[in-house]
Amino acid sequence: MANNLKTTFAPRNVCVVGLGYIGLPTAAILASRGHHVTGVDANSAVVDTINAGGVHIVEPDLDLLVKTGVQSGRLKASMTPVASDVFILCVPTPFHPESNQPNIDYVRAAAESIAPHVRPGNLVILESTSPPGTTLDVVGGALQAAGHKAGQDYHLAHCPERVLPGAILRECVENDRVIGGATPACSAAAAEFYATFVNGDIVLTDCKTAETVKLVENASRDAQIAFANELSLICDRLNLDVWEVIRLANRHPRVNILQPGPGVGGHCIAVDPWFLVAAAPDATAFMRATRERNNAMPAETATRIARAAHQTGAKTVALLGMAYKNDIDDFRESPSVAVHKHVLEQLPDVKVWACDPYVHAMPGVELKSFEECLAHADLLALLVAHRPFRFYDWSQLRPDQTLIDFKGVLQTG
Ligand SMILES: NC(=O)c1ccc[n+]([C@@H]2O[C@H](COP(=O)([O-])OP(=O)(O)OC[C@H]3O[C@@H](n4cnc5c(N)ncnc54)[C@H](O)[C@@H]3O)[C@@H](O)[C@H]2O)c1
Repeated sequence: MANNLKTTFAPRNVCVVGLGYIGLPTAAILASRGHHVTGVDANSAVVDTINAGGVHIVEPDLDLLVKTGVQSGRLKASMTPVASDVFILCVPTPFHPESNQPNIDYVRAAAESIAPHVRPGNLVILESTSPPGTTLDVVGGALQAAGHKAGQDYHLAHCPERVLPGAILRECVENDRVIGGATPACSAAAAEFYATFVNGDIVLTDCKTAETVKLVENASRDAQIAFANELSLICDRLNLDVWEVIRLANRHPRVNILQPGPGVGGHCIAVDPWFLVAAAPDATAFMRATRERNNAMPAETATRIARAAHQTGAKTVALLGMAYKNDIDDFRESPSVAVHKHVLEQLPDVKVWACDPYVHAMPGVELKSFEECLAHADLLALLVAHRPFRFYDWSQLRPDQTLIDFKGVLQTG
């Protein structure tokens, strides 16, 4: 269904639960479109920062949008939900690393926290990336325990987020949205609400399909990256240039191989395939293998760095880029963090520095500026293609310095 639902705009009271990388931009955009938004977060420091007109995460232009929203009175933050027309849950959905099982405790807690405030006719949306069945069973279940029946006295839907960190404000508005309602009427109610701020197409389905679509998107990315990463291992063993191999293979009209790297991080691509594995354990050998391939990359990357350090006699190694992807400050689940740990283990007599223009403190990591690394490191390992690294003229390195480029920034063609 295309986004042709431009009915007369009526501002709604919206309660956004979870003010992180997804919830805060969503709340700020809704406020900028004229809705009255209460953002809820369990972290009092987050609530205080936002109410003071500030932001606690780095995302282009978010600071200005939040400040404007707070000053206009249309955006405020609170530690507890309030009665609203629309509730949007944007809380974390991590997995238990020891078992690879999904952790939906935050979703359950968020659903229970809104339950006393839900009224007949309200719309409840789960945006968190969730295992199939979560919207109906966990959110619907928590609300049912409080006496609310999805599709009968309130509308319930899942609308997964697929925004790109670094471009969240634009993608939140421009991306197509998949909306899965508990009933067709729930889908329609959610679509009408999203049409108040989304310019992309809005396509309707059921809850479980919408949940699965989001997981499939990221599992697909994970598999394609795993293939490129495996090629980098093959080329390392054969002493070939993986960038050249991929570039030439991609000249085939129906081949489109992605670029390899030091692993897959973040809380989406590195997590979501496990939700499918958990949902269908006997049917997901391939997805498990791709996860394992990507998870093995940081150790492999560290081994290559250690090998180069031994070969060159490097005394100081600088790891460039700690975030899990380009041009963001988020280093949760970052492969660079794992690379750092493995390099420390493999090079006990070498100084190991880390450098990230967007990250200013990391426990257990000796962070140095890019300038210090360029001036004093013998071996530089480029792990994240942040803008300052992409635009640096690497030909300026001294002859006694070595750069290992794990992101292909030196590739021009
Ligand atoms: N970050 C991304 O790029 C991205 C992209 C697409 C989808 N997602 C999905 O969106 C969801 C949210 O991710 P995020 O990156 O915004 O998480 P985040 O960790 O940045 O933010 C979550 C916020 O929720 C708060 N919170 C946790 N439990 C709460 C509760 N019961 N009540 C109120 N606040 C609570 C936390 O304090 C935190 O501030 C996840 O399911 C994630 O997989 C994230």
